[in-house]
Amino acid sequence: MKQNTFTIITGASMGIGKAFAFECAEKGRNLLLVALPDSKLEQVQRELESSFSVTVLIFPVDLTAIGSVKSLFQFCLDKKLSVQMLINNAGMGVGGRFENIALEKYLQIMDLNNKAMVLMCHYFLPLLQKESQAYILNMSSMEATLPLPYKAVYTGSKNFVYAFSLALREEQKNGPVSVTVVCPGPVSTNPDSLMRANAHGNRAKWVMASPEKVAKSGLEGLLKGKAVIVPGRVNQVLVRMMKLVPTSLKMNLLERLFRVYSTH
Ligand SMILES: NC(=O)c1ccc[n+]([C@@H]2O[C@H](COP(=O)([O-])OP(=O)(O)OC[C@H]3O[C@@H](n4cnc5c(N)ncnc54)[C@H](OP(=O)(O)O)[C@@H]3O)[C@@H](O)[C@H]2O)c1
Repeated sequence: MKQNTFTIITGASMGIGKAFAFECAEKGRNLLLVALPDSKLEQVQRELESSFSVTVLIFPVDLTAIGSVKSLFQFCLDKKLSVQMLINNAGMGVGGRFENIALEKYLQIMDLNNKAMVLMCHYFLPLLQKESQAYILNMSSMEATLPLPYKAVYTGSKNFVYAFSLALREEQKNGPVSVTVVCPGPVSTNPDSLMRANAHGNRAKWVMASPEKVAKSGLEGLLKGKAVIVPGRVNQVLVRMMKLVPTSLKMNLLERLFRVYSTH
């Protein structure tokens, strides 16, 4: 890896983003890590630099703030960084009946999951195109293909990530930038995702993955140029099977399964 060639990972202070940072560092990739200010980013930077011979830069910023992505891009220009890989991982969600959640929360989710991701791709694509081979990974969710009642806005936002990524991939197919979308099932990261998975009791164990497993299969698939990655065999089978079920039946089933979210 050239000294000034970097992988950018958003949401890298914890969860799946942090696992991606370790996975990339292990493969000798220099990193530029992004997360909210006052976060655990500095700690992650220290852990990585003491374990791997890579350069780790951090850029604490709220990606939903106006001008934040532009300032991150300017930081890369000022430091003359080459960007070979962009991992748009930062995202957030909320569960509950649609009308019971504050509109403000929904706007935040769309700003982070969709607007910030589009801004990142738009700013960084020209830099990525300068490389002989480059990669964009966008973090969606299994919920992109299985719309979840009681998580309507999150599900919708991840559907946007999914469709956007496939479309962008096709546009870029004759160039050096390969675009991949990752669709994990539930992942044991923050207390909220654990609580929601636990609400399903034993069933959750079959589909639950660790952040490390998601990062490992995500990076492997990305480097192989895969279009869509669903980490975990059980989840892959579930997604395939559910495609065969008529929509009304599928949605009825999902509503019953996920009714536990309605009061969260
Ligand atoms: N966990 C799951 O079950 C699951 C399943 C499928 C898909 N996903 C997707 O995978 C991605 C990562 O999920 P996760 O569970 O690992 O998340 P997480 O543990 O909640 O971590 C989120 C990361 O994003 C950062 N972040 C949040 N808001 C931000 C903002 N406005 N600007 C910049 N950074 C921000 C956080 O920074 P701070 O540390 O500073 O807060 C943190 O580093 C998300 O896109 C999520 O939708 C998750």
